[in-house]
Amino acid sequence: MILIVGGAGYIGSHINKELNKQGYKTLVVDNLSTGKKELVKWGEFVEADLADKNKLLEIFDKYKIEVVMHFAASKAVGESVTDPAKYYRNNVVNALNLLEAMKEKGVKNLIFSSSAAVYGVPQYMPIDENHPLNPINPYGQTKYIIEKMLADFETAYGLKYVALRYFNACGADLDGETGEWQGSSQNLIPQVLDAVIGARSEIGIFGTNYPTPDGTCVRDYIHVSDLASAHVLALKNLLDTNKSEIYNLGNGRGFSVREVITAVKKITGREFGVVETSRRAGDSAVLVASSDKIKAELGWKPKYIMIEEIVVSAWRWHQKKYKI
Ligand code: UFG
Repeated sequence: MILIVGGAGYIGSHINKELNKQGYKTLVVDNLSTGKKELVKWGEFVEADLADKNKLLEIFDKYKIEVVMHFAASKAVGESVTDPAKYYRNNVVNALNLLEAMKEKGVKNLIFSSSAAVYGVPQYMPIDENHPLNPINPYGQTKYIIEKMLADFETAYGLKYVALRYFNACGADLDGETGEWQGSSQNLIPQVLDAVIGARSEIGIFGTNYPTPDGTCVRDYIHVSDLASAHVLALKNLLDTNKSEIYNLGNGRGFSVREVITAVKKITGREFGVVETSRRAGDSAVLVASSDKIKAELGWKPKYIMIEEIVVSAWRWHQKKYKI
């Protein structure tokens, strides 16, 4: 059985769906702080908080867990700068609880949601896995620290892991069965879609004087269903080879904030207010991935590479969620 910690959340719920589609048995553990019970549509569910290590030990006693997938974390870069304590507790301390519980119960395999935020300001582009790690915000620091913990747990206790460094996860399940829940995201695309439906009065562009073609930040937007297929490949490879790995996950193309806003206007056919505001602390100008390693080694191929296709899926889910 695969334990999906944070499986009621945005990314975890897509991976839960994909695993069940491919015949795996899953157990979702989530504290429902941002995840939603309604998104646990596959496998079993136990409500629990990673802060409660005894509860984790009970779960490992009760279920025969072969692999843990860990998605339960706080993820807003801006918030991590203003409230780092929340990030060190939710991400680092809670990950340590999970790793210790796994160690005590002899569970040796982990797939970890890491982030492109571990790289910091890029020294070259696209960013591959050998790029130096120098996170520039507390969120990225927490992912960096956890990656270090994984390596140390491997050396000392034989943990085997795959750390997947996501670039900008976005979009939603094309069947409309899961997506990002209302109010739970501060990321660009959901925020812009909120402006479309009037749930917020306008969208702010955080900085227009970056050294990029149109002055706004460029990101690599990777569809969440492409992330899901990569997780299953990583899982199979981990079980086949018993070898720890680190892979980037991005689609290799960069889109600026303005390009995202333009795509949303085109897809939705609606106008909304756009205001140019100051830079957000902790942002890099450009983050674009090289995912050549996972493509070459595991045969992963992202399906949704154009921003329009990604926005279509996100918009479909947004409309469903708000019943427009
Ligand atoms: N942005 C705006 N206005 C908004 C929201 C965001 O201009 O209202 C801008 C941000 O400044 C940034 C871009 O849109 O330039 C994307 O911002 P997100 O908050 O959606 O995403 P981030 O790039 O900050 O972070 C995301 C993930 C992290 C990951 C990072 C790495 O949330 O987990 O991508 O690429 F580490």
